[in-house]
Amino acid sequence: MNVYEKYILPRLIHWAMRREVATAERRKFIALASGTVLEVGIGSGLNLPFYGPQVQTLYALDPSRELWKMARQRVREAPSPVEFLAASAEHIPLEDMSVDTVITTWTLCTIPNPLKALTDMRRVLKPGGRLIFVEHGRSPDPGVLAWQNRLTPVWKRIGGGCHLNRQIDDLIANAGFDIAQIERGYSRGPKPMTYLYKGLAQRAS
Ligand SMILES: C[S@@+](CC[C@H](N)C(=O)[O-])C[C@H]1O[C@@H](n2cnc3c(N)ncnc32)[C@H](O)[C@@H]1O
Repeated sequence: MNVYEKYILPRLIHWAMRREVATAERRKFIALASGTVLEVGIGSGLNLPFYGPQVQTLYALDPSRELWKMARQRVREAPSPVEFLAASAEHIPLEDMSVDTVITTWTLCTIPNPLKALTDMRRVLKPGGRLIFVEHGRSPDPGVLAWQNRLTPVWKRIGGGCHLNRQIDDLIANAGFDIAQIERGYSRGPKPMTYLYKGLAQRAS
């Protein structure tokens, strides 16, 4: 890991993810989590203040120890005990069918193998459990998509592996989820970076 990845990138991620538009989405979607919750890609812990009292245990998974240290400062804002899991989402260190809710916000863009990670999220979800997602990804507009494809190779290098052009809804469905609710559209900011997929999915039976 170089100096940029260790010292600068975690602070850049924290700064970029604190935008007001993102906070509004966190407030709306994180409140839907309940029971035993796994948050994949906890980052600097910006979702922690929005979990409600219906959350009993929160597993906070992230491979980045630097971001973890930042998230730890926010643990007291969560209503339930938080257990950190130093792991990659493709190999979640939890039992099959042990979790009621999986949360992923602005993370599927970065995980090296998002389909494998989503398949493992499905594995740990109980029957009837829900995946709650707020993610950015591929735009349906050919002009914007062309920019997403052009920018992704450089963007990945400065953004810790972030891809602009992933088809989030297809990834979720291909991993064995039924999408129960989804909103797609641009949020505020440059179009290649702000096409959002937000919603709820359940383990397909
Ligand atoms: C843009 S940040 C978003 C952080 C947080 N979810 C939020 O909403 O503020 C992307 C996150 O994905 C995490 N990440 C990267 N690779 C991962 C992997 N293989 N498994 C799980 N998380 C990963 C990063 O460490 C980082 O915390």
